[in-house]
Amino acid sequence: MTGTPSTGTRNAPAAPDGPRTVPPFAAISGAQVQRVLRGRERQLVRLVEDTYRLHSDGHTLNPPSYFLRFPDRPDSRIIALPASLGGPRPVDGLKWISSFPRNVAEGIPRASAVLILNDPATGYPYACLESSIISATRTAASAASAADRLSSGRPRPRRVGFLGTGLIARYIHTFLAATGQRFEATGVYDVSADSAAGFRTYLEQHAEAHPASPAGHITLHTDPERLIRTSDLVVFATVAARPHITDPAWFAHHPLVLHISLRDLTPEIVLDSANFVDDVDHCLKADTSPHLAEQRRGNRDFIDGTLADVLAGRVRVPDDRTVIFSPFGLGVLDLAVGDFVHGEVARSGELHVIDDFFHELRRHG
Ligand SMILES: NC(=O)c1ccc[n+]([C@@H]2O[C@H](COP(=O)([O-])OP(=O)(O)OC[C@H]3O[C@@H](n4cnc5c(N)ncnc54)[C@H](O)[C@@H]3O)[C@@H](O)[C@H]2O)c1
Repeated sequence: MTGTPSTGTRNAPAAPDGPRTVPPFAAISGAQVQRVLRGRERQLVRLVEDTYRLHSDGHTLNPPSYFLRFPDRPDSRIIALPASLGGPRPVDGLKWISSFPRNVAEGIPRASAVLILNDPATGYPYACLESSIISATRTAASAASAADRLSSGRPRPRRVGFLGTGLIARYIHTFLAATGQRFEATGVYDVSADSAAGFRTYLEQHAEAHPASPAGHITLHTDPERLIRTSDLVVFATVAARPHITDPAWFAHHPLVLHISLRDLTPEIVLDSANFVDDVDHCLKADTSPHLAEQRRGNRDFIDGTLADVLAGRVRVPDDRTVIFSPFGLGVLDLAVGDFVHGEVARSGELHVIDDFFHELRRHG
């Protein structure tokens, strides 16, 4: 390695087989991330779908996430998601995301994250991005894709219910609305009355700002049963650590369920439904509801396919059963969205490059 840091002449890393120089290192703030992503929901859903296709076709590496847990703080965790994305815009990297649910009581978001992008040619990290927004965005884009693709063979959902109404629920609602889902009724349930009330205010403000996308009648439910029974699209975005929804009869009307929080449903409900995931090996881990169902059943035959299978037309989605989408959340999605943000910020000339970040660059001084 003989390169010296560029001082802004090159804002993007080299192609893997291109000349090897040390890429400039940039820090990208949450404000910059949000400026790039806001209002681009349809484009981001397409980006996430393209990334699922690359993953399904073997053009990614997405090893298991690593969970750092704390015996003295059992409800908290920090997860490392290393990943490598091939295809037209190759990039390697790592998302490092904390979940500290007690933050919420102090008025601080539960999750905080950074995303490191690495140059596939040299391995050098070339950007560190605020990533709670990227993470929420790719999660919501994936949910919006699932809501669209998994409901294409059944009547479009008209009554949506949100169970757990924090930041992720808000992003999912924004993406559903921006990608054309229209609801006559919106149900809200949260164990915290404050969260439910805050989400209602968000829904009302969103409807005011987007007259083409009304929230319809908003109901704050006092129990999850009524919300589930009256919704044909149910979004779980709680922080439940183990199943708390136990009665398959609540799903007798066969809704589409976006099971984003992964641990809300008992194995009986999972096994009574058609199941789609983002990646089978990833999702059947870490005591998710599909993982518990696998342990109960003794096999994985209850998984009907991945969202990529649905996108490719390889599997049919039943219209006469409850359909559950459980996405584990793939690091390659963060890389795809992070790389998009980096490219846009670089194009706008607003990349904050730290010129002397890599300093010891001559092997023998
Ligand atoms: N699958 C993925 O790719 C992915 C990605 C990001 C986040 N998530 C998950 O989404 C979930 C929500 O994240 P967030 O940032 O919005 O969290 P948050 O803390 O902002 O909101 C969670 C809400 O759930 C409520 N809640 C907790 N237990 C509940 C229960 N039993 N019934 C109803 N409500 C309940 C809480 O009161 C809170 O308002 C987390 O579980 C997170 O791990 C999944």
